[in-house]
Amino acid sequence: MNASRASTRSTLYAALLALLVAGPIAGCKKKSGDAGSGSGTAATAGSAETKPPAPSGSIALLLPESQTARYEAADRPFFEAKFKELCPGIEIKYSNANQVAADQQQQAESAIAVGVKVMVLDPVDGDSAGVIVNTAKAKNIPVISYDRLIKGGSTPDYYVSFDNERVGKLQAEALLAKLTADGVAKPRITMINGSPTDNNATLFKQGAHSVFDGKVTIVKEDAAANWKPEEAQQLMEQFISALGKDGFDAAYQANDGTAGGAIAAMKAAGIDPKKRPTTGQDAELAGIQRILAGEQYVTVYKRIQPQAEATAALACALFKGEKPDPTLVNGKVNNGTADIPSILLTPIAVTLDGAGDTESIADSVVKDKFYGPDSAAQICKGYEAACTAANIK
Ligand code: BGC
Repeated sequence: MNASRASTRSTLYAALLALLVAGPIAGCKKKSGDAGSGSGTAATAGSAETKPPAPSGSIALLLPESQTARYEAADRPFFEAKFKELCPGIEIKYSNANQVAADQQQQAESAIAVGVKVMVLDPVDGDSAGVIVNTAKAKNIPVISYDRLIKGGSTPDYYVSFDNERVGKLQAEALLAKLTADGVAKPRITMINGSPTDNNATLFKQGAHSVFDGKVTIVKEDAAANWKPEEAQQLMEQFISALGKDGFDAAYQANDGTAGGAIAAMKAAGIDPKKRPTTGQDAELAGIQRILAGEQYVTVYKRIQPQAEATAALACALFKGEKPDPTLVNGKVNNGTADIPSILLTPIAVTLDGAGDTESIADSVVKDKFYGPDSAAQICKGYEAACTAANIK
């Protein structure tokens, strides 16, 4: 890992930490802590101090799908825990749309109908979700565009995500470096991108192409509708039958779920995935275990906890009608309608041994205990020898 990246990252963590403890957010905490205490200082003792009413009301958290582990395993629990800590007593109305945009639309409409005061929305379809934002904002409900950018002629109040073009660059750079190290002169790469309705998928693809174009031959490229692993598996089957078993050197897959599908297709066709370096994203447990087994080359690790906690802090401040400190926002992203104040975190490429600009499994997800306190044990179950070799304990 290079020094400038480390310092960018630590600056961002410092900013996020500040976000979680500073001014308006701390106010969120303070008021609820004061509720019911009734104690006044000498200066206020004589005044007609009234107890603040017990906090009440609700917000909505709308996540897009559950086939990818992160949403139920990390985004939701980290968001809920931080929001409850900062804004106790406020209900979180949670829905998961399972990648069906029409269901998400209904879930959002019900949340608006019951009077939520803030909406955190990770859209299935970034364009059609513009309608949800416009409906919410007509009722003065602020909206945070979570992880995926909401477009469609709308102006969400905030956007909290990662540098998603960088995700695609990291995937492609790691793959290219591996192919170069393996002496593959003119690499032939298959590409399976993410859902075309997800703006992130567009950015991952752009980032990857910015590295690949002119250096490799993209022998096949398509998109897995709704990020479905089984769709990726079918696409890879089609690629293999069109190209032949030896018709590609490596596989670009936008995330770990679709990498799992593509690798299953390789195995079914009698191709050894160890000989076809494959990319992924999310540092899912299954993806990390495939890396340990040598079946997947790289994943991109995104720390979900700071992302979810920063969002919870924003949501709490907005619930209280406070304007979060603008200096806590570290960027702006144009969604086609306006520049949306944004918090953007830094993704990290992870390989078995931390080759080149990547980090090792031991130095990233294991060190961070990404899957909980027993992360190493979870990763190593069934992969004991590979873990010992990779210094994972
Ligand atoms: C997220 C990825 C995830 C994908 C599928 C993207 O918007 O950023 O982390 O793998 O959606 O849910």
